[in-house]
Amino acid sequence: MGSGKEGVGRLLVTGGAGFIGSALVRHLLLGKENASGVGRVVVLDKLTYAGRRENLAECSHDSRFRFVQGDIAESDRVGKLLEEEAIDSVFHLAAESHVDRSIEGPEAFIQTNLVGTYRLLQAARERQKKMKNGQDFRFLHVSTDEVFGTLGADDPAFTEETPYRPNSPYSASKAGSDHLARAWHHTFGLPVIITNLLKQLRDQAVPGEVDSGHNPEGAGGSETACLRGWIQYSGLAVCG
Ligand SMILES: NC(=O)c1ccc[n+]([C@@H]2O[C@H](COP(=O)([O-])OP(=O)(O)OC[C@H]3O[C@@H](n4cnc5c(N)ncnc54)[C@H](O)[C@@H]3O)[C@@H](O)[C@H]2O)c1
Repeated sequence: MGSGKEGVGRLLVTGGAGFIGSALVRHLLLGKENASGVGRVVVLDKLTYAGRRENLAECSHDSRFRFVQGDIAESDRVGKLLEEEAIDSVFHLAAESHVDRSIEGPEAFIQTNLVGTYRLLQAARERQKKMKNGQDFRFLHVSTDEVFGTLGADDPAFTEETPYRPNSPYSASKAGSDHLARAWHHTFGLPVIITNLLKQLRDQAVPGEVDSGHNPEGAGGSETACLRGWIQYSGLAVCG
């Protein structure tokens, strides 16, 4: 995290009312190890079908927390928000994120995951240019392992050298957003970090098993492999 006007991180979390984003926000504000290093957490979320204000209820009384309902593709609004909040790090999780929906209607995925990410990167660039300590700015782009394609049960694990082979409109739109984030780093010097997460399990989807530490019954193929070694954190099952 960079250091903003109060000497501690001032963070924008896009998609912070979603499944992973809200777990991140709770971790940042309620996790003991982070409490002193976080000066501000601003959530920007459109509240699509996937976003829920209730996910952030525990944080609503924290004076460091602000919720803004809005679209990452609204350039002017996002630019003003970054300035007025003196944001020094962006955690970009906002996305259309469900493969089945991307098959039924790909356009929203192109709009949010590609156009939205592009506009957010541009706004971040403008913000970084205006900062005195712009070298400390960070843009964390949260992506998926699905950009690398599909693993069979006996295939070796993906690595950072695995070529991109997206197979669905969702993974193609996320692959495109990864390329944009990479290019904004190499072309414009924006300090970007890209992370390609494995499938995250909603605890509602695997009740009981999340606490037991065993593979959920019925999980097959690559998902079984992915589930090996997963852990639970704050209701969020992280596998890897
Ligand atoms: N859940 C997984 O298993 C998984 C795995 C790998 C990567 N990821 C990535 O992690 C990120 C978060 O995933 P998730 O499961 O929490 O997703 P989610 O669908 O639960 O949440 C997405 C959030 O983004 C918001 N949003 C959508 N479009 C927006 C827009 N245009 N402007 C602002 N907000 C918008 C939604 O309202 C929602 O709150 C995504 O980028 C996803 O691609 C998820």
